[in-house]
Amino acid sequence: MSDPAVDVVEFLLTAHTYTEAEDLDEDDLPPRYRQVFWSDGSIERPLAVTQDRARTATSVDHPWDAVSDLLFTQRTEFSGEISLTQPEMALEWYLDHVDEDRLAANPTLAYAAEHDDDANVDVSREQAREENQPIQADRVWIDSLLDEYFDEDDDAEMLDLVHILAPEEIETTLDDLVLTEDQQEEVNKIVTAIENRDYLASIGLSEIGKILFVGPPGTGKTTISRGLAHELGLPFVEVKLSMVTSQYLGETAKNVEKTFEVAKRLSPCILFIDEFDSVAKTRKSDEHAALKRAVNTLLKSIDDISLVRDEVLTVAATNHPDQLDAAAWRRFDEVVNFPKPDRQMRADILRIVTQDMQMAEFDPEAIADETEGLTGSDLRMVLREAVLQALTEGRRELTQQDVMNAVQGFEERDNLKNMDMIDGEGAAIAGDGGHDHGHDHDH
Ligand SMILES: Nc1ncnc2c1ncn2[C@@H]1O[C@H](COP(=O)(O)OP(=O)(O)OP(=O)(O)O)[C@@H](O)[C@H]1O
Ligand SMILES: [Mg+2]
Repeated sequence: MSDPAVDVVEFLLTAHTYTEAEDLDEDDLPPRYRQVFWSDGSIERPLAVTQDRARTATSVDHPWDAVSDLLFTQRTEFSGEISLTQPEMALEWYLDHVDEDRLAANPTLAYAAEHDDDANVDVSREQAREENQPIQADRVWIDSLLDEYFDEDDDAEMLDLVHILAPEEIETTLDDLVLTEDQQEEVNKIVTAIENRDYLASIGLSEIGKILFVGPPGTGKTTISRGLAHELGLPFVEVKLSMVTSQYLGETAKNVEKTFEVAKRLSPCILFIDEFDSVAKTRKSDEHAALKRAVNTLLKSIDDISLVRDEVLTVAATNHPDQLDAAAWRRFDEVVNFPKPDRQMRADILRIVTQDMQMAEFDPEAIADETEGLTGSDLRMVLREAVLQALTEGRRELTQQDVMNAVQGFEERDNLKNMDMIDGEGAAIAGDGGHDHGHDHDH
C-alpha cells in the first residue's frame, strides 16, 4: 500500500506541472490521470483537481484529508478544488518520498524533476514516456475513435464485425498458458520485432509482422493473441471474419476498410482476424458480388498493412488450414502450429487451471494419461464440471476422483457430439462411452 498523501500530492503536482508546461502532451500523463481529465475527445488545460477527480485518479477516499496537514496545499471552499500553494516545495517533498521507479512511471513529473535545479534524479522524461502506455491504448480514446469512424446506423453491423479491447481490459496473461517451444519462440520473436521496429524500418525490412495461427478449436490461438496484447500494453482489435461473409453485405467492403483504418489509428496495436478460413470458402464458391468485393478488400488490406510502417501486428487464426489457397497463405510471413497438447502439456495445463483451487491428493500426471486428445479448453471444461459437481455435494475441495469422474463425463458428452442422429446409431455409441460402468451413474 502506498501512502495516501504521496498519492494525492503526485496527482496535484502532475496537474499543476501539466497545466504550466505547454510542451507536455497526453502521453506524458499516466493513464489513470488521463481518464479523469478526458472530456470530448481531448484533455484541456488547466487541469483542475476536484475531490471527485482526485478520488478516482488515486483511489484515496478522502483526498483532501490526506494532504490537508501539508504546508503547501490548499482547498478552495466554494468549488472544493484542491491545489498547491508552493509547487516547488511540493516537488521537493514528493521527490523525498518516492523512488526512481515511481518517478519513471510519470513522465510529467520526470519532466518537472529534470527542470528543477535542486532535484537530483536520474530519470528523464523521455525514458518515462517510453514506459508509459500511450493514449491510443486508453478505453476513452478507443471509444472516441470508434465514434469518429462509425456513425449510429453502422453500429449493429460494426459491433458484430469488430471488437476492440484496451490492454487493461484483457484478463488472460501469457502466464496462464502452456506454450510449445515453437510458440514460445514465436512470442519472443514478435516481442523483439515490436521493440526494434525503428531499426527494422531503417534497414528496409517491412515484410514482417503477419502471422497465421493454425490449429483445432480450443488450443489457445485467441488467448495467446490477447495475452500478447496484455503483455505489450497494446489495444486488441478483433475481427470476426464469419461476420464479414454473413449479413449486411452492401456495407461490408467499406467496413472492412474502416476496420483497418481504425487499427492504423490505434497503432501500435494487434489486429486479430479470427476464422480466417471463411475467406477461402467464399473465394471458391460462386458467391454474391458484394461478398467477393468484401473479401478482396480484406486481402488487399492485409497486403497494405505493415508492422514496421503502421505498427500493426496482424495475426490471423484458422481451424481449417486445408481450406486456404496459395493466395491466402502467401500473405503470412510466419505460420505457427497449435497442436493438441501432449501429455506433459496437459499435466502443466491442469496445474495452471487448478492453481487457485483446493485440491486433495491431486496427481495431474495421472489425469494427463487419461486425457489424450483433449485440448486446453476441454481440460478447463473438465475442471469446471468437477468443481460444480463437488459444490452440489457441498464440498469445495476437489479429489482426484472428482476430476477423473469429470473426465469420464466429458468423454460421454464428446461421444454425443459425434453421434449420427439420423441413422439411429447414437444409442450404441453413447453406450460405448461408459467403459467403466462402476462410475457411470453413481448419483
Ligand atoms: N495451451 C493452453 N494452456 C492453457 N490454457 C489453454 C491452452 N489452450 C487453450 N487453453 C484455454 O482454453 C480456452 C480456449 O482457448 P482459445 O479460445 O484461445 O482457443 P482457440 O484456439 O482460439 O479456439 P477457436 O479455434 O475455437 O477459436 C481458454 O480459456 C484458454 O485459456
Ligand atoms: Mg479463438
